[in-house]
Formats: sequence, C-alpha cells, structure tokens
Amino acid sequence: MLARIAFIGFGVVGQGLAEILLEQKEDLKKNYGFEYSVVAISDKMKGAVYDEKGLDLQQLLNVVKTTGKIEDYPEGITGWDSLKTITESNANLIIEVSWTDINTGEPALSHVKAAIGCHKHVVMTNKGPIALAARELMSMAKTNGIEIRFEGTVLSGTPALNLGVNNLANSKITKIAGIVNGTTNYILTEMEKGLSYEDALKQAQELGYAEADPTADVEGYDALGKIVILTNVVMDGTITKDQVPCEGITKITAQDIEAARSEGKRWKLIAGAELKEDGSVEAYVRPEKIPLDHPLAAVSGPINALTYTTKYLGDVTIVGPGAGREATGYALLTDILDIHRKISR
Ligand code: HSE
Repeated sequence: MLARIAFIGFGVVGQGLAEILLEQKEDLKKNYGFEYSVVAISDKMKGAVYDEKGLDLQQLLNVVKTTGKIEDYPEGITGWDSLKTITESNANLIIEVSWTDINTGEPALSHVKAAIGCHKHVVMTNKGPIALAARELMSMAKTNGIEIRFEGTVLSGTPALNLGVNNLANSKITKIAGIVNGTTNYILTEMEKGLSYEDALKQAQELGYAEADPTADVEGYDALGKIVILTNVVMDGTITKDQVPCEGITKITAQDIEAARSEGKRWKLIAGAELKEDGSVEAYVRPEKIPLDHPLAAVSGPINALTYTTKYLGDVTIVGPGAGREATGYALLTDILDIHRKISR
C-alpha cells in the first residue's frame, strides 16, 4: 500500500505520529511493505498546506517547531480547511486528530463522516465520534468499503481495544473494569504521597496527561467516554453516555485517602461494564476503595489498566500507558498497519 496521508489536526498527537513515521520509515517498508507520503496537513490553529506530490514531513515538523505556522512551509497550496482537505486532496488515508467536543463529537465527527463519505480510510484518537456514534460510523465504513480504526481512544497505544475485539473474540466477556484515565490516577497517586489535589492536577496538566479542559478528567467524563466505547465496541452494547452513572474524584479529600490507607486500601477511579442476565450491559464510572493486594491497586501514576472477565480465560488484564505524545502517536501507527495488512491481503 502507498498511503497518501492527510493529517486533520497537528497538535501533540499528530506530531507524535509524524515523528514515529519519520523515524520508522525504512523499517515500515522493509518489515511490512508499508510506504507513505504525507500530502496534506490542516490544523485549525496552525494553518494548512497541501501538495499532491507529497510534503517533506521533517521540514514541516521543523516549521511547526520554529514558527508554529504550517503556512510557513515553502511550497504547496495553503489555506484549505479540514473539510476541503478531506474531500478535495488526493489523500487516501485521513488521520483525524483534531479537537472534539465530547457532547457533540464535533468537529471530529463531521471530519470522519466526510472521509468515509468520499471513500477514504480513517484512523483517529478522538473519543467523541466513537463514544457517540461507533455503530453508525462502522456501518457507514462497511457500506463504503473503507476501514476505520480508533485504538487510541482507549488506553492510547496500549492495545486494549484490539485485545478485546480481536484477541479475545468469542471468549465471552462478561465484565470489563479498570483504570482508564491517567490524569485522575496520577492525582490520586500523588495525593497519597501528600500532595494537595490542586498541585497534583497542575502537575498532571504540565506533564500533558490532562484534557484541554481538565474537568473532563476529574469529573469522570473522559473515563465515561471510554467505557461507552468499550461497552459498545467490545461487548456489543448499545448504551449512550447519558445512561451511565458517572462520579469523578473531585470529592475525594486527603482525609478520605488516609481513611482508605488505614483500611489497607487505596482509591482508584474505576470505569466498568457488566453483562446482566437479560443480555443488557450496565456501565459505571466511580471512585472505589481497592484492597492493596488487588492488581489494580498497584497501577500508579498515569498508567492505565483494564481487566476483561471472560468465560474461557477468567480474568485477562492489560496494563500500560493511557496518554502521551508517543504512546498515542503509536496507537495511530498500529491502526495504520492494521488497515495496511487488511487491504494488502
Ligand atoms: N486525559 C486523558 C487521560 C488522556 O488522562 O487519560 C488520554 O485519553
């Protein structure tokens, strides 16, 4: 496959993927027969450039680092907005890493629909479109004969979705539960070490774990989006986020942390989904006091973990990073390679 790539959005995650693509160019060709050319980048804040013959990705990254303006790239057509870039460029693979409103999924949702509508493959890390419309988008993609992938929406590059959908296929998953938000896990870990809530949150923001508006992390909405995705994509559920009781960590005080410690427990923000006898799935997000000898109690800092409870294997747990430039950039690379494998067969 020669992928002609267009980036929609070129922030931390997009640049993370760009760096990996540059670093791994030869290995991707040699080991997987995967070749690419980046033809377009369109970012709402940084501007846009398009060249049907391909852009120099290293030069683009340098331009973004020095001036912050994509339009300072010396060649190509500038000024195309995201929708024009998706529909009118010669790209055959759209990397959707723009901004998303978790309530409406926009503008990412429109980007994904436009890409599917003009028969272009899509990989994305934005939770909004998948939390709101996973089934609709997967069905549209099937009808239009293209592939969409979104591994990075849950646990970034740690292959939690692939594990559930592919590796544990028909293992009869009855329950999924875990720590799916790095910011809150970091805050709780630091509060246990004696830091105040405010200082721990500030650090999580400085380290780049938190969402643009950290309310989404601390009130549990980010974890809510992820458990909705897991429920609907892995457990074949049909839930919406409004059906999921959601409580974040904002009410947990230093006293609560101490009280848990004296009981031999620690607080974790747990997102879970359970299959009920009538075949429906119930999901939740809530802080729970976890006994110290439980595997999730040992998952600290920004690390995430997810346990699938299955009929044939019992519990299967995956632990790994859930956020970050490289870890999320890598999620996109695994999706790209997965599409490449599928369409090159
Ligand atoms: N803000 C999220 C987290 C980023 O802290 O886990 C990854 O979705």
